[in-house]
Amino acid sequence: MRILVLNGPNLQLLGKRQPAVYGHQTLASINDGLEAIAGELQISIDFRQSNHEGELVDWIGEAANEFDGIVINPAAYTHTSAALHDALAGAALPAIEVHISNVHAREEFRHRSFTASACTGQICGLGTNGYEWALRALHRHLSESET
Ligand code: DQA
Repeated sequence: MRILVLNGPNLQLLGKRQPAVYGHQTLASINDGLEAIAGELQISIDFRQSNHEGELVDWIGEAANEFDGIVINPAAYTHTSAALHDALAGAALPAIEVHISNVHAREEFRHRSFTASACTGQICGLGTNGYEWALRALHRHLSESET
């Protein structure tokens, strides 16, 4: 099982960026934790982060040939990007959307997700642990759809 873990704009700053909202963990340490779980679940993960919408669109567009599923935190593009919605819908891969913060309890512009309707499910508000739950949920979903 091959999983693409994608992070959108400003998430390279995790650890330093608004720690009261996003916690103290860096993206590298989140990814290390996911790598350990990948060993346990016998899956392989490719980790990518970009601040550029088009680069994320390109990666999702290529993903259908290379991966079985996607974990994605589209960050601010969640609330703006029809292009990411269309890329996810086009890839037609199981995808779990992650938000570290509870976007529904924040500013109104964060309540709307362009991308969630093109995803299998969404995890939000559980802090950086949400990435782990997303990976485990995707693994379970893919395992069940194999049987
Ligand atoms: C975020 C929530 C978004 O609204 C915000 O723009 C982010 C991070 C989260 O993980 O909570 O950059 O996706």
